Amino acid sequence: MKILLTGANGYIGRRLKNILIQDLRIDLRIFVRNKKSLSKDILADFDVVEGDSFHLEDLEKALCGVDVAFYLIHSLHQENYKDLDKISAQNFITIAQKCNVKKIIYLGGLGVKNDHISEHLMSRIETGEILSSSSLVQTIWIRAGVIIGSGSASFEIIRNLVEKLPCMITPKWVETFAQPIGVDDVMSYLIEAIFLETQESLIVDIGTNKMRYKEMMLETAEVLGLKRVLLSVPFMTIELSSYWLNLFTPVSFGMAKALIEGLKSEVVIQNDNAQKYFSHIEPMSYKQAVQKAVDEIKDNQVISRWSDTDGTTWDTTHHDKINDAIFVDRQIADLGHYDKEKVFKAIKSIGGKNGWFDYDFLWEIRGIIDKAIGGAGLSRGRRDDCDLRLGECLDFWRVVDLDEGNRLLLLAQMKVPGDAWLEFKIEKNQLIQSAYFYPKGIFGRLYWYSLVPLHYFIFKNMIQRILENSLVIER
Ligand SMILES: NC(=O)c1ccc[n+]([C@@H]2O[C@H](COP(=O)([O-])OP(=O)(O)OC[C@H]3O[C@@H](n4cnc5c(N)ncnc54)[C@H](OP(=O)(O)O)[C@@H]3O)[C@@H](O)[C@H]2O)c1
Repeated sequence: MKILLTGANGYIGRRLKNILIQDLRIDLRIFVRNKKSLSKDILADFDVVEGDSFHLEDLEKALCGVDVAFYLIHSLHQENYKDLDKISAQNFITIAQKCNVKKIIYLGGLGVKNDHISEHLMSRIETGEILSSSSLVQTIWIRAGVIIGSGSASFEIIRNLVEKLPCMITPKWVETFAQPIGVDDVMSYLIEAIFLETQESLIVDIGTNKMRYKEMMLETAEVLGLKRVLLSVPFMTIELSSYWLNLFTPVSFGMAKALIEGLKSEVVIQNDNAQKYFSHIEPMSYKQAVQKAVDEIKDNQVISRWSDTDGTTWDTTHHDKINDAIFVDRQIADLGHYDKEKVFKAIKSIGGKNGWFDYDFLWEIRGIIDKAIGGAGLSRGRRDDCDLRLGECLDFWRVVDLDEGNRLLLLAQMKVPGDAWLEFKIEKNQLIQSAYFYPKGIFGRLYWYSLVPLHYFIFKNMIQRILENSLVIER
């Protein structure tokens, strides 16, 4: 059976990809916006189509000859995501019809269409309606509410709030009902949907027990072995709650706002199709799902994170832009007797719990300032202590180029009056470390000049510490 997986670098798609590549019943094709985002093994062993759902010819290449297509494309990180998602779904169903695709499997969100529904939930419903609009293609529209798994946005919000705040002042929305589900159960439904032998299109609502957000927080605290007190107040607006989440959790202000707006409406199951068509899948309890997520984080086994992709990585102009940068701080060290492979490993360990090689307190202050003005701060951390992959975020940076053993290029995603990059290159027998800055207006220039004294110490020490750290790295 020829299966197409879209959204393969996203939170859901990356986990599904790991399962599909091992399933011998399946001939897998993967659709990505940038082939470099996939490992060499995947590129060698699987059929990969590079393209964008806004280009019909790319979709035709991806969907031609396909039996079942997973639709996991979502543009939440873009401001006009509602319109983009509609166009993308329309393009997809048009070409799926043309290519005689038999089935589309789409994962959307729980929620009922009414006047109070949030833009985000509405967009998920509209996408499902567009994908289900053809009488020629069957659509299995699976709807999930809060997904509990390591790295999922909703779970990371709950976990961070519970871990950081012994006593929480909570808005009214913590009383809203939801039906969460563990990410592993979501995977089971998606896989089983491939082999489901029905002809008609279906909406399948999935979830475990119905519970209030408040109960989710208290049960999470129990799993983490913490005692927490929640005090509900009536005056927390969506804006205020979003600032609160932005400050105490890794999510950005925009994402917090989109999610909080959704918390006003109940996200509970509206049909019994999960029981009817997938009766052998028994979703784990909320606490079991939390325990599994917490264990994965402890064991450094987080497969995907909500922040893995935001589209900026595939902007191919970074290379031109760094050449245009007005300010550059460059440090060069001779590698002499240092092992190049170990030096690159040391470079790749930058950030997160590993720190920034020196002057970590300055990076922390910069992170706090960034959070206070609505940026990502340092709270996104690292997915893995040693490994880095192209496209993922790392504190307030994003990996925009990773050429193993040769080059790491990080794009600054902190609030900054300009564009900034940090590059590490191993060339011939030298390590070249460059901080690039393209200022916006006079403030951008003042910003750079005001940091020159700090940069002098930070960057000079950074390159030295990378070399020193490489000496204690094991192969
Ligand atoms: N995550 C959750 O907790 C959750 C909960 C309930 C329901 N869902 C649903 O599950 C689905 C997938 O969500 P997700 O969280 O996995 O999303 P995500 O992490 O934001 O990933 C979205 C994916 O879409 C791809 N994409 C975006 N625009 C594209 C375009 N124009 N052409 C081709 N690919 C494009 C991205 O590719 P790049 O890698 O190239 O950027 C990325 O792989 C959504 O419908 C969502 O509503 C998710």
